[in-house]
Amino acid sequence: MKKKKLTLFSAIQPSGNLTIGNYISVLRYWKYLQKDYKCIFCIADLHSLTSFKKKKENLSIKKSILDTLALYLACGVDPNQSIVFIQSSVSEHSELNWVLSCYSSYQELTRMTQFKSKILDYRRHINSGLFNYPVLMASDILLYKTDKVHVGEDQKQHIELTRNIANKFNSIYGKIFKIPDILIYKSGARIMSLLDPKRKMSKSDKNVKSTIFLLEDPQDIFLKIKSSVTDSDLPPKIVFDMYKKPGISNLLIILSTLSGISLCELEKHFLGKSYFELKKEVYNIVEKNILKIQKKFFFYRNKKKLLYKIFSEGSYKASKIAKKTLAKIYKVLGLFKKYQ
Ligand code: TYM
Repeated sequence: MKKKKLTLFSAIQPSGNLTIGNYISVLRYWKYLQKDYKCIFCIADLHSLTSFKKKKENLSIKKSILDTLALYLACGVDPNQSIVFIQSSVSEHSELNWVLSCYSSYQELTRMTQFKSKILDYRRHINSGLFNYPVLMASDILLYKTDKVHVGEDQKQHIELTRNIANKFNSIYGKIFKIPDILIYKSGARIMSLLDPKRKMSKSDKNVKSTIFLLEDPQDIFLKIKSSVTDSDLPPKIVFDMYKKPGISNLLIILSTLSGISLCELEKHFLGKSYFELKKEVYNIVEKNILKIQKKFFFYRNKKKLLYKIFSEGSYKASKIAKKTLAKIYKVLGLFKKYQ
């Protein structure tokens, strides 16, 4: 068997239902990546606390975590090949988060575009977790001597910040952290909202009609795709142009990534056809993918014992690596060793 040398880290927040955006840009690749890399797939529940608010919602975090794991498995993640664990079960993430926040600059964090857009969305209540969000991401990544971080386009800036924090720390204390590379697959790296194709499709969009969820009823998906925003070109023109035709381009990207047919071929195929015909084909391919995932999802979701076993084994393996890294950091900082 080929020895996997490089470590790849990725994570998804279990905040509610995962979306077709999460699937297209990251999740669908993991079953292949785990063949070539030592993969560490995390469920970033601590990050999701930045948006889980009400007490009632907090009760459902456990359910969302189990749903997320079952979705990982449904999409081909194999816990015998990869480490799969819950972020909060490895306390070193929170500990390193504090340390790294002392080596991150306020100015740099205020420049994060995700933070700036969250400020506009939330207006009144901005919790400081949102501000510190990328530092916790840096901790997730750096604890595992990560070579590659696999994300969608929207997280690129956070990974660049991770590299900056690691370089800054290394410049003071020597080569402590490995500097991770970013892995973004270009096609489908940013799936846009169905109703506002200039904005990213998001789990937390107030208007659920903007988002296709992986566990959604296909009938609802059909209605969402049918009412997705296109444009008023006459005659209708189905061509890829993200700036002039963002709605059509977004639908073409969804179709192209899920079918494996190039954008160029799709443009030829849709020559002279109506927007409704495009929407019908987008729906068919989304339905085909989603039904396959949902079938496997329910299979795993009913095996609660198996899910808990995966978490317990994953946390054990992740902790072993994380503890070593944190011990090294405490040592160079001149702190006492952790007594436990
Ligand atoms: P989350 O749950 O918001 O997103 C998980 C992954 O899905 C990608 N993504 C998208 N890609 C394309 N189009 C979209 N509309 C879309 N929406 C989301 C994101 O880029 C991400 O890769 N903060 C991370 C989770 C995390 C993490 C980490 C990732 C926590 N710690 C350390 C890498 C390394 C996030 O964005 O979660």
